[in-house]
Amino acid sequence: MKILITGGHSGIGFDTAISLAKRGHFIYLTVHQKEQVKTVKEKLKNYNIENIEVMILDITKSVDRNKVKNLDIDCLFNNAATGVGGSLICLDIDKIRENFEVNFFATLELTKEVMLNWLSSNQKGTIVTMASLAGLIPVPFLGSYSSTKAALLTMMTALRRECLLLKVPIKIKLIEPGLYKTGFNDYMIDSGKNICKIKELENKYDSIIELEQSIIKLMECTYTDSIVKKIVKAIESKNNHFIYRTPLSQVLGTKLYMLLFK
Ligand SMILES: NC(=O)c1ccc[n+]([C@@H]2O[C@H](COP(=O)([O-])OP(=O)(O)OC[C@H]3O[C@@H](n4cnc5c(N)ncnc54)[C@H](OP(=O)(O)O)[C@@H]3O)[C@@H](O)[C@H]2O)c1
Repeated sequence: MKILITGGHSGIGFDTAISLAKRGHFIYLTVHQKEQVKTVKEKLKNYNIENIEVMILDITKSVDRNKVKNLDIDCLFNNAATGVGGSLICLDIDKIRENFEVNFFATLELTKEVMLNWLSSNQKGTIVTMASLAGLIPVPFLGSYSSTKAALLTMMTALRRECLLLKVPIKIKLIEPGLYKTGFNDYMIDSGKNICKIKELENKYDSIIELEQSIIKLMECTYTDSIVKKIVKAIESKNNHFIYRTPLSQVLGTKLYMLLFK
């Protein structure tokens, strides 16, 4: 298969690209900043892999998305995202808008470009999108990020149903990972610190975030293997299974939480 991966500079996107390339697929590994092309190409030298092409794709920029229009791919893996931390009470509304711009609107725009391309050339294809277990159990102080992922779940569910009803030969799949140590969570939580300017909340605000960060650190999986395996399964699968979740302990924890607190 020919697979395009967004946000592939590091973390789960990069590791998935390596795994898929080793399995014989051709990968368009995309990054959103010019300097990242060089660093990714350097990293790839350690793997002796030739079937990966590195490209620039900022999913929020229409000029970049246009480049994808004419690319011959069988699968789009929407992996790119940003994490905005902090209480919804204190957060600047523009920060939340930016979070939605990348995680929701740009993801939908890119998905539509690719789907329209497939439809006009009578081609089959698969769209795989990274949501999160945080989209199922809205996490306090990560409310912006959780909301973007919940919105993705709803959007992709509707899109999948539309494809089924219209008999469009495009598979829509969603990945809902638990916590993985890629640096993403730390960066997101840190971004929410020291932003509370409300006198009545200031003294408890940062201590709650610190506690949340310690809990998340304890829960994070050190290696990305389990999630990469799920993504590869979703991409290669011939069936129309929709949601892929892992690791099991966090999936069960999420289900229990939903049962107790919904
Ligand atoms: N790690 C976890 O615990 C976890 C849990 C659930 C879901 N996820 C999801 O898994 C995916 C990958 O996350 P990760 O943990 O591997 O972290 P990551 O390495 O930071 O992956 C996110 C990628 O998206 C890129 N990106 C940001 N804005 C972009 C834009 N406008 N256009 C294109 N790319 C953009 C980032 O680039 P920069 O590096 O330059 O910012 C980064 O390469 C994300 O969708 C995340 O929400 C992660």
